[in-house]
Amino acid sequence: MQLSVFHAPEQVPSLASNPSPDCAIVVDVLRATTTIATAFAAGAEAVRAVAELADLDAASAAWPQERRLRSGERGGQPVEGYDLGNSPLDYTAETVAQKRIFMSTTNGTRALACVQTAPVLLTAAFVNLSAVVEQVLQQQFESVWLVNSGWQGAYALEDTACSGAICAALQQASGSYKAANDETVASIALYRQWQDNLLGLLRLSSHGQRLLALGRDADLVYCADRDRFNVVPRQSEPGILQVRAKPLS
Ligand code: MLT
Repeated sequence: MQLSVFHAPEQVPSLASNPSPDCAIVVDVLRATTTIATAFAAGAEAVRAVAELADLDAASAAWPQERRLRSGERGGQPVEGYDLGNSPLDYTAETVAQKRIFMSTTNGTRALACVQTAPVLLTAAFVNLSAVVEQVLQQQFESVWLVNSGWQGAYALEDTACSGAICAALQQASGSYKAANDETVASIALYRQWQDNLLGLLRLSSHGQRLLALGRDADLVYCADRDRFNVVPRQSEPGILQVRAKPLS
C-alpha cells in the first residue's frame, strides 16, 4: 500500500493530468470532516459539499425545503442566513436527521472538490478514524492519498496529525506500507509525538487558536475525541457524501 499525504489542496497533483489514487481521504479535523461524521451519526441523509456559497444556494434551492439544511462557515464563523455554521455540536439528531445538508466551509469543501474524480473518496477526522482505517484495509487499496484541508493553502497541525494517525494504523495493520512522499513520514512522526495529547495539539494549532479566540474550546474538545463514531462518509456521486447502510449481521 502506497500512502501520500498532502498538506493542502494546492499541493495535490491535478487528477486531470496525473494518475488517480485508488482512494482519496479528505481530512479537516477543525472542523468540516468532524462535523460531517457527526451529521451522519445523527442521521443526516447526505452532505452535499459545495466550495462556493453561490453554488450552494443554487443547489439547495432545487431540494425540497422540508428536507434540506444550509450550512456555511467562513473564517471559523457561521455564514449569516444559513441554518447552521460548522460547529459539530449543532448537528444533533433533532436538527439533521433525514435531512440533506448543503455545506460550504473555508477549506474542507475546497479539498473535497479537488479530489472529486477519485474512484473512492472518503472523509476522516479523529472522531471516525478507526472506521475509515478499517474500510481502507477491507478494500485493499494499493494507493491512498490523504488530503489535508489546511488553512487557505497553509499547513495545519491537526490535519497532519490525523493523517499521520491513519497512516500509522495502516502501516501497522497492512505490513506492506510505502511512504510515497516525505510528508507521509513526517505526519506519522507528528502523530506519534502527540497521540496521547490530541486536545493539546488542537489547542496549540493556529486554527485551534483562532477558534479559541471565538470561544469555541468545546469544539476542540469534541474534535479531539478519537473514535467517537463508527461512520465512513463516502462520495456516492460527485459532491455528494453518504454513508452505506451497515450490512445486516
Ligand atoms: C475549514 O473548512 O477549514 C473548517 O471547516 C473551518 C472551521 O470550521 O472552522
